[in-house]
Amino acid sequence: MSQRVGGARSVVRSGAMGVNLKGVKNLTDPHAGIPQPSRLTSRALTRLRFVLVVAVFALAAAACAEAPPLPEGADAQLVEGRNVWQARCATCHGPDGGGGTGPRLNEGRVLERYPDPADQAAIIENGQGNMPSFSSVLTAEEIEAVIRYTREIL
Ligand code: HEC
Repeated sequence: MSQRVGGARSVVRSGAMGVNLKGVKNLTDPHAGIPQPSRLTSRALTRLRFVLVVAVFALAAAACAEAPPLPEGADAQLVEGRNVWQARCATCHGPDGGGGTGPRLNEGRVLERYPDPADQAAIIENGQGNMPSFSSVLTAEEIEAVIRYTREIL
């Protein structure tokens, strides 16, 4: 009789109970079974997160950048010129004409380079280097309007 009880006890101690306890311990350990990143990896992840946050803010700032507004009472041709500028030119020359892929055009630069607006029109119509031709994209009126915008507003 006593031997049987002893046998049962030893089974509980060394067998089933031991395994169960291990299982419970693993369940309560939040890191059990999940490989932890090395310190180097987590530092790289922190840096990546920082870069992503900065990139998102830069993109938001770029999306908000607008072409300079028109003075009150500006005529319809200038309104059209600003629309054409925003839609067709700002991506390369910068929303304010300060330059980008294309050269700076603002603060009187086009007046200096092209005293005769017809010379400026020729570049827009025909293109030049990496500047695309707009003769089949914009009407003569739109080109005239955007030229006025670059000369009078930028
Ligand atoms: C895809 C980019 C791109 C777009 C879009 C673009 N341009 Fe350009 N633009 C350029 C580049 C590049 C140059 C320089 C060309 C060269 O001389 O090699 C340039 C040059 C010019 C010049 C001559 C500048 C100088 O200093 O002589 C004018 C004027 C100009 N662009 C006006 C415009 C206008 C107006 C629009 C919109 C209708 C426009 N561009 C759209 C890229 C672009």
